[in-house]
Amino acid sequence: MTETAAAPGTPAAPPESAPPELPMTRTCPYHPPKEYEDLRARGSVTRVRQFDGRPVWAVTGHAETRELMSHPAMSVNRFHPNFPMPIPALTQLQTPRSAAIGALIRTDPPEHTKQRRDILPSFTLKKIAGIKPEIEKTAARLADDMVAAGDSADLLDVYVKPLVAMVLSQLLGIPYEDRDHFEDLTYRRFDPEQVVDAMADLTDYLDRLLVAKETEPGEGLLDDLVTQVKAGTLDREELVRYALVLVIAGQETTANTIALGVLTLLEHPEQLAELRADSGLWRNAVEELLRFLSLTGGLSRVSTADVEVGGVTIREGDGIIFLNPAANRDEAQFERPNELDIHRNVRNHLSFGFGIHQCIGQNLARVELDVALRTLFDRVPDLRLDRPVDEIEVKQGLVFGLAELPVAW
Ligand code: HEM
Repeated sequence: MTETAAAPGTPAAPPESAPPELPMTRTCPYHPPKEYEDLRARGSVTRVRQFDGRPVWAVTGHAETRELMSHPAMSVNRFHPNFPMPIPALTQLQTPRSAAIGALIRTDPPEHTKQRRDILPSFTLKKIAGIKPEIEKTAARLADDMVAAGDSADLLDVYVKPLVAMVLSQLLGIPYEDRDHFEDLTYRRFDPEQVVDAMADLTDYLDRLLVAKETEPGEGLLDDLVTQVKAGTLDREELVRYALVLVIAGQETTANTIALGVLTLLEHPEQLAELRADSGLWRNAVEELLRFLSLTGGLSRVSTADVEVGGVTIREGDGIIFLNPAANRDEAQFERPNELDIHRNVRNHLSFGFGIHQCIGQNLARVELDVALRTLFDRVPDLRLDRPVDEIEVKQGLVFGLAELPVAW
């Protein structure tokens, strides 16, 4: 990794202290790690070290994130020797056995462009509006069952995870009864030893499911795509890769945002009261929660060319890690960024990424968040945390989340 030399005649910069190390940990569940502020003070694009000591660029500025994430030199080729690994578990992605994860999020154009074109029609606003009533029914049933069963529960187990899994099952056309195959992989603590095995198990399962669908098609995104396999325009292995990436990308992110959204609103009772009084506020509140919580830190790229950005030169072959939770708290973009404000103009947050890999499931995620939160707070008016926030177990990692959400009513 190289850094731009000082221009001739400019005074030499003071010797730099050792670059900070990633990953950094959150101490409050709804705020990014405090050290992200120190990183931005060093520069919106600055050098850090990965856990294994390798140098890498960290991007914390909002404008620089948009500029770089949409730059054609940003590659997601995880087999490049400098591809960043924000957490140790991700090194598993570089083993040949993990090739199955090689769709969308891990492919560059032109392969990526073709894959995106295959999947995008299933995530249009119209398609998602079509399944919204079903999501509403499911959420209402789960909330009512929860209340009928007692006066306290782990909200993750009884409401959030089942809701997200049911929606995904319905969308993709995967039987909900088979959720063990995908829940395990999505919510397991990322243990580097186990993750590849879990991925292999899910790949086998999806492969068997798709073979069965070829003779007995159902109704779902995978069933639609199976018709392309039969027509010879898509091969089954590729379809398995699509299914795998959708199952993995679509659950933990959504479930953790819902769970943390509940916790955050319970900790901001005045804004929750406003939402209960005026349901027209939910739409913007969901966007603000997405910005405020932004759970996916550490989006990795490797540069295929020299790129000037934020006063530095990123050289061809350098690794880059985008810390979008930091970019979403950039004062240059958002006033009072560390405050939750359901009324703020929150367009342009970066919680779904930016550029060609921007989240394909964002229309669905928005509807799920809106329905899940609105339904819960409507149907369970006395909902409260059953333990102080600082005693609730959290999960650090590539997608930050809660390990539990003890609530009572
Ligand atoms: C609150 C929920 C969600 C959040 C915060 C989220 C966040 C993200 C982010 C940040 C990216 C960009 C990754 C990168 O640039 O490296 C992404 C991509 C992606 N997301 Fe989501 N996501 C969510 C929900 C979903 C859902 C519900 C689905 C599908 C069922 C989904 C499927 C995908 C896929 C397939 C990609 C890769 C797109 C590509 O590479 O072209 N996500 N998501």
